[in-house]
Amino acid sequence: MTEIVCVVGARPNFMKMAPILDALRAYPDIKPYLVHTGQHYDEEMSRVFFVELGLPRPDRDLEVGSDSHGRQTGKIMMAFDSLLDGRSARMVVVVGDVNSTVACSLVAVKRGIPVAHVEAGLRSRDRTMPEEINRLVTDAISDLLFATSPDAIENLRAEGVPDSKIHLVGNPMIDSIHRHRDAARERNVPKRFGLAPRRYGLVTLHRPSNVDDPGTLAGILESLEALAKRVPILFPVHPRTRERIRSLGFEPGPGLALNEPLGYLDFLGLMDQATFVLTDSGGIQEETAALGVPCLTLRANTERPITLTEGTNRLLGTDPRAIVPAATALLDGDAPAPRCPALWDGHAGQRIAKVLADHVEGDAPAESRRSVQVDT
Ligand code: UD1
Repeated sequence: MTEIVCVVGARPNFMKMAPILDALRAYPDIKPYLVHTGQHYDEEMSRVFFVELGLPRPDRDLEVGSDSHGRQTGKIMMAFDSLLDGRSARMVVVVGDVNSTVACSLVAVKRGIPVAHVEAGLRSRDRTMPEEINRLVTDAISDLLFATSPDAIENLRAEGVPDSKIHLVGNPMIDSIHRHRDAARERNVPKRFGLAPRRYGLVTLHRPSNVDDPGTLAGILESLEALAKRVPILFPVHPRTRERIRSLGFEPGPGLALNEPLGYLDFLGLMDQATFVLTDSGGIQEETAALGVPCLTLRANTERPITLTEGTNRLLGTDPRAIVPAATALLDGDAPAPRCPALWDGHAGQRIAKVLADHVEGDAPAESRRSVQVDT
């Protein structure tokens, strides 16, 4: 048996890894070993995702928890290094751009274990974002780079990554949407929150640039209250944001509901039926593109430009005063025509599994390493 160690750590990792693990079942000689670093640990930030996505129980939970970025990354590295001591991993698979991604990649390469990075090549060109540093470092040291879109390939080429390492495979996060959309719809989630389908806005905000500065956060909350006079707004609040809102002493007015973070299916059910989603998340820009739901991104840049050119995303910049006019335009029917990027078709997990299998079995013909075809 060939062991591949698969790493997840934070909420946006889980829906990317689930389809890959699922697809690896077609290769009986490969034994995936699932590691949860414990970067996210709350019930609603972690465990509920395992249950709803059908992820297997992790073989090991490193239980690192929250800390400063440096200490959290260091703790993950130490715990992951010890874990690898007793194992004979042929490859380490990491996804996305969180601290767990870069920490485990570094440990693996220092032990001579090849790294496969899923969602490689995305660049915001904003190095004040911790995720941008995580992406740059992880890609620079990975052996297999799985790209979700052609712009990511261009970024990798520009940084000197040879084509032989890069594989355009589509988007495994969208595989999870394809798999779970019907189940999410059956839950009638908007109704449970007293919302009418296509008559509400859904909000998620957790980036330090939006929530850490009290003035910026207060401006955002003021805009949400103004918007809530026109359409109901539901805002499931990330723990980081919850703390910041609490210190402002903010109490929401009518039409604006602040909620605990939601599980995967409930959030998918809400995104699917929203008039628009306002976010600073990376993944939600992609998920709304696949669902055809308008997305307003409260950031100055995006590492996912394909969601602007082919999806339903619009960059608002960082001034909260942009929120009300942009959302009002959408409510008045000025919505972008949905177009889902190529290969975001529900089969990325299979493409990734095939490359991994070819690679660890060591018999991939050179020319098959760039473009992966999967019979669908
Ligand atoms: C992390 C990722 C970010 C991703 C986000 C999704 C990095 C650098 N950032 O940011 O890219 O978009 O996850 O949520 O890896 N907390 C809890 N319970 C939890 C997890 C966190 O209460 O289960 C609180 C803690 O107070 C913690 C804070 O949230 O200090 C931030 O958590 P952390 O994992 O450091 O970063 P995120 O903001 O979640």
